[in-house]
Amino acid sequence: MSFADRDRRDIVFGMSDRRIPLANCEVHADDIAAVNDVLASGRLAIGPWATRFEQELADYVGVQHAVAVNSGTSALHLIVRALGIAPGDEVITTPFSFIASTNCILFEGATPVFADIDENTLCIDPAEVERAITPKTRAILAVDVFGHPADWPQLEAIADRHELDLIDDSAEALGSDLGGRRCGSFGRAGIFGFYPNKQITTGEGGAVVTNDAEIAGLCRSMANQGRSADDRWLQHVRLGFNYRIDEMSAALGVSQLRRLARAVEERARVADLYAAALGDIEGLILPKATHGGAMSWFVYVVRLPARFTKQDRDRTSEGLRDRGIDCGDYFQPIHLQPFLRESLGVGPGLCPLAERIGERTVALPFYVGLSSSDVERVAETLRTLLADGDAGG
Ligand SMILES: Cc1ncc(COP(=O)(O)O)c(C=O)c1O
Repeated sequence: MSFADRDRRDIVFGMSDRRIPLANCEVHADDIAAVNDVLASGRLAIGPWATRFEQELADYVGVQHAVAVNSGTSALHLIVRALGIAPGDEVITTPFSFIASTNCILFEGATPVFADIDENTLCIDPAEVERAITPKTRAILAVDVFGHPADWPQLEAIADRHELDLIDDSAEALGSDLGGRRCGSFGRAGIFGFYPNKQITTGEGGAVVTNDAEIAGLCRSMANQGRSADDRWLQHVRLGFNYRIDEMSAALGVSQLRRLARAVEERARVADLYAAALGDIEGLILPKATHGGAMSWFVYVVRLPARFTKQDRDRTSEGLRDRGIDCGDYFQPIHLQPFLRESLGVGPGLCPLAERIGERTVALPFYVGLSSSDVERVAETLRTLLADGDAGG
């Protein structure tokens, strides 16, 4: 929702009934100035800002290479292709994620194999990964779900033991770290996404990050129509795409990166406010950082008490929305999505934990600048709805 929309709603509903959006991006005057400078320069594509954004992102993440592209999905696709994953290969991945982490496997005609999740972190369970390995397994694609790092030490050990490639989908976790390493930097290559609900935004945008020069070179070439790295004469040396980021988006990324540390802190503050406001609701499971490293919160997803069914959850979400509080039901497990069920023949029962958890999750409004009074309003509304639910309402 734009600032203008929100102001209008303030007038229509009055402050106390003002709609609280699920997500909101921060755009400051220096972001606008950065984009305006690019527009004024006349160089809107293939220019210095993309290179600068890549360097600053790579430095922040602690890797040697970053390739900025037009979405997190494109970044995932490039890695899968750069690794040579092809029809007949299996890639083990999590069902509890955004659809793109599975679609990128399907783009190359390979087969996603779903392994169930850890109920504390909501990330893929390494024991389930190990169980899913077959002679056809080529890679593991794990996700730092909602900003929480996956169990990378275990996943790296499994990948080493079975000689598998490991991909870090860190679209939701820019700024999180584990054991002194930033999320995104695990495995052979990782990605970020910069959609406006993320820790930083470029509008649409994403990036591949890696220490592997060959992977970086392939991704850069394929993102740019398959041109050779030292292209001056439009030499197309492989099949490519146009996944390039434009200069306005890259300049916005550079400007937003400067505020990332503060955004991570502010998001943690909002998570703390929620933890204090919701902590006494019996049976409600709150998200927690379980790994001891820094947690860069993407969203704040609570799980309704075990006695609540999916219908109860849906009623609760509707109740929040009816009372002016936007919320989301992240994630409906990927293997239950109609397209996956039809094309892979997968369905209920495959990953019972992800299925049970996915029926009871509610993503609450979460963004930099969410006020303590709005957090209180969300908490009180949820408390009332859950009490009504218990009373059979
Ligand atoms: C885990 C995960 N992977 C991949 C993506 C895809 O990123 P994009 O929307 O930039 O294509 C997202 C987007 O939200 C995501 O949450």
